Amino acid sequence: MKKLVKITGIIFGIVFLILICMVLYVNFTGIPKYEVVLPEYTHVSTPESIERGKKLALTLCAGCHKNHETGKLTGTLMLDAPPEFGKIYSQNITQDSTYGIGNWTDAELLYLLRTGIKKDGQYIPPYMAKLTVTSDQDINAIISFLRSDDPLVAPNPTPDQPSEVSFLTKLLSHLVFKPMPMPTKPIKMPDTTDRVALGKYYIQTLDCFSCHSADFKTNDYLVPENSKGYMAGGNKPLNMEGQIIATSNLTPHKTSGIGNWTEEQFIKAVKFGLVENDRALRFPMLPFVYLTDYEIASMYAYLKTLPPVDNKVPRVFYD
Ligand code: HEC
Ligand code: HEC
Repeated sequence: MKKLVKITGIIFGIVFLILICMVLYVNFTGIPKYEVVLPEYTHVSTPESIERGKKLALTLCAGCHKNHETGKLTGTLMLDAPPEFGKIYSQNITQDSTYGIGNWTDAELLYLLRTGIKKDGQYIPPYMAKLTVTSDQDINAIISFLRSDDPLVAPNPTPDQPSEVSFLTKLLSHLVFKPMPMPTKPIKMPDTTDRVALGKYYIQTLDCFSCHSADFKTNDYLVPENSKGYMAGGNKPLNMEGQIIATSNLTPHKTSGIGNWTEEQFIKAVKFGLVENDRALRFPMLPFVYLTDYEIASMYAYLKTLPPVDNKVPRVFYD
């Protein structure tokens, strides 16, 4: 009997030691690094690509990277990142060669935007979105803009504030969070006269699906329509005060989705955050002011083709 107690004790001791070693290992190594396999790529700038890139960067990057003191993309504290992730700062992405991306090559930028792996191999956890389904042409446009002489990205020597990532982020980055693969085939722009195809492209590349499906954890970032509860809402992002603002059901269900919305109502909500006979839409739903009515109407046309899902998401207000 005594022997059994002793053996059990030893086994527990060993398991405990292994656990301690794992914790120390994860804490010490931090977020894992990955091999960087750079593609052949040099950006091609035209006045049109810079203009398109600016619109995309204002829609996709500025929300996280714009600093309200400098008025430029010099990085800031992410107030809406879940506190369990730690204190997360976005970085300076102006052309400054010390703190910004002045000494990044085009291929390094492309690789980071697609996979989430920085030029030194460091992986960025999901607090920065990866452009998995964005067309090659649109990524080129974003990079053209980042390299342009626009004041938002002109070299600015604001030092980067390193993120203070929590143990949980480190652990999840070892176990669950993984970089996205580099696409193996070219990703083309949809035919812009095909409203449903164009709308699908925007719903997926502007990350509407990532917030408006069931849960960030069950989203499929490579084939967005395979995400659990695709576009039926109920996901729980946070506002700047750390409160949950549940996302709306955007499937064409008549009572719990947007089945009874007109195209005009949809445009007003997406572009300006205005909803008829109701309060304005709250952060983290941001007004998509840079999109044209045609682009937003395309999203509406696409959403109308989805199966209606009955998932009532009550709008809860905090005072
Ligand atoms: C949801 C917030 C978010 C969005 C949207 C976002 N980023 Fe980031 N980005 C971050 C954070 C946070 C970091 C820093 C991660 C870290 O701690 O390493 C970062 C890091 C970077 C870096 C690495 C900079 C460096 O010096 O290490 C680049 C480049 C970058 N982002 C470019 C972009 C571009 C271009 C876009 C738009 C297509 C974009 N990001 C959209 C949050 C975001
Ligand atoms: C960062 C997360 C996030 C992203 C990205 C996002 N939304 Fe939202 N959206 C929300 C939240 C949260 C609400 C609910 C806001 C509220 O209750 O005040 C909302 C509400 C809406 C509504 C109002 C629906 C209703 O029934 O009241 C529409 C329409 C909408 N979003 C469309 C879009 C479109 C289109 C996109 C992409 C271009 C998008 N959203 C991207 C979080 C997001």
